[in-house]
Amino acid sequence: MTLARNGVSIRTERLNKAFGPVQAIRNLDLEVLSGNRFGFLGPNGAGKTTTVRILSGLLRQTSGYAEVCGIDVSRDRDSIKAITGLLPETPGLYSKLSAVEFLEFIGALNGQSDEKLHRRIDSLLGVLGLEGRQDDLLESYSSGMKQKVLVASTLLHNPKLVFLDEPTSRLDPSASAVVKDLILVLSEETDTTFFICTHMTGFAEDVCDVIGILNQGGVVARGSPQEIVDSAGAGDLEDAYLRIVGGKVDREALLAWR
Ligand SMILES: Nc1ncnc2c1ncn2[C@@H]1O[C@H](COP(=O)(O)OP(=O)(O)O)[C@@H](O)[C@H]1O
Ligand SMILES: [Mg+2]
Repeated sequence: MTLARNGVSIRTERLNKAFGPVQAIRNLDLEVLSGNRFGFLGPNGAGKTTTVRILSGLLRQTSGYAEVCGIDVSRDRDSIKAITGLLPETPGLYSKLSAVEFLEFIGALNGQSDEKLHRRIDSLLGVLGLEGRQDDLLESYSSGMKQKVLVASTLLHNPKLVFLDEPTSRLDPSASAVVKDLILVLSEETDTTFFICTHMTGFAEDVCDVIGILNQGGVVARGSPQEIVDSAGAGDLEDAYLRIVGGKVDREALLAWR
């Protein structure tokens, strides 16, 4: 298996994806270093999910280059799948299974062997703080607990890189806080790189050490949350984000009809 060169986990060069007339990704240049918690921040329709689907080997680009841990994503999809984990935007969960049964099922789909898989499941359940509830059916779990199990399911095969597509967008603030803490703990306890799509500036600020802001298919700002705030001359990340992607409401224009 190819190792990441120079600690670079993801690299894209002039990556493009068109769906018919819709240019979802436009000459995207991206670099994510190993071990980063990279926040891919952008409004609905910016191209975040499309990028993740290309990088995880699910979708072929129209043109340009992308590599993950030194592997060309359009050439060796099986290797990409073996070294990455993906939490999709709308994941499926089997409510009539317990957490352990669900994780065993996902592990079996990955082709993992019994004993190693059970050790991994035990250690993940420990990190998640779900011991004691692991044999309860998932239908009895809160949204935050379900999301923990889903995040765990992406980590079973000990991937080098995990894509989390909008991991908190359907969660209430307390469930979001659980997922935030989980990502921070997992990032400290493993050397996994996290690539996290979100449109929530607060989440990105709390969790990510590097942020790339995506707008209309291209990266328009990159840096630590503080660097982005400073370079936009903004007060905080939300203010910087709204200045960069637009969306500041023109109150004068809005009230002009009166
Ligand atoms: N399968 C598809 N067929 C047609 N258009 C698509 C498809 N997937 C995404 N798009 C379009 O590509 C653009 C980017 O979408 P997406 O990557 O889902 O953005 P985001 O995840 O940032 O909200 C949008 O205009 C969307 O409508
Ligand atoms: Mg999306």
